Amino acid sequence: MDEIVVLENVVKEYRNGERAVRAVNGVSLSIERGSFVVVLGPSGSGKTTLLNIISGLVGPTSGQVRVAGKDISAMTDAQATRFRADSIGFVFQFFNLFPTLTVLENVEIGLALRIKDPQELRERTLKYLHMVGLEGMEAKFPDQMSGGEQQRVSVARALASQPELLIADEPTGNLDAETGETVWALLRNMNRETGTTVIAVTHWAEAAEFADKTLYLRSGRIERISGPGAGR
Ligand SMILES: Nc1ncnc2c1ncn2[C@@H]1O[C@H](COP(=O)(O)OP(=O)(O)OP(=O)(O)O)[C@@H](O)[C@H]1O
Ligand SMILES: [Mg+2]
Repeated sequence: MDEIVVLENVVKEYRNGERAVRAVNGVSLSIERGSFVVVLGPSGSGKTTLLNIISGLVGPTSGQVRVAGKDISAMTDAQATRFRADSIGFVFQFFNLFPTLTVLENVEIGLALRIKDPQELRERTLKYLHMVGLEGMEAKFPDQMSGGEQQRVSVARALASQPELLIADEPTGNLDAETGETVWALLRNMNRETGTTVIAVTHWAEAAEFADKTLYLRSGRIERISGPGAGR
């Protein structure tokens, strides 16, 4: 079986003065390449910390973290930054689009670092904007779009570099329920269409219904795993 993420007994401890907080407290898990994984749990249960450990933004206090065959916990900051740029796409609650750039430019700006040929850059950008359903909106500015449309732009931006892994922290936390559902459906479709592994954190319990695997976090531990991929 091809596993893209493997965590072994991962602990992340933060020191708040005298008190130590175990944000992640002994997590072992594996995520199959191409799967759609949802992480649920109450506020403060360690969801964001877990994502940050998987992306190498935060180093674990102890334990092993392998992502795409690489020991990310052993990388220097520079190596981890490079690895993130090459292998991971991010989608956040607040869309993090540049307000003074058009939709097209918002997607092209990051991609331009890796695609030098202008025609190829334009084709790749348009391909992903069309995949997320934004055909005809390329020249708009973010503030001329709905929240759901803006989040589509950030999904296109995250996937246009063709990462191995898409990490989303509360991707619908800033959207109304109905719009949120369309963004979840989009993420699921993009996962199927592109084969990109998706790990998404949410408070929306129904997301578990279409996930291959759902991790329920509580107090830094995995309390339960459900879904068709739960046993893997
Ligand atoms: N940089 C930090 N320094 C100190 N403590 C931290 C830090 N980051 C997180 N924590 C603590 O670790 C615990 C887990 O935080 P985390 O942000 O991972 O939770 P979360 O599940 O993402 O919560 P939310 O749903 O509110 O986003 C919390 O008790 C938090 O206060
Ligand atoms: Mg969080």
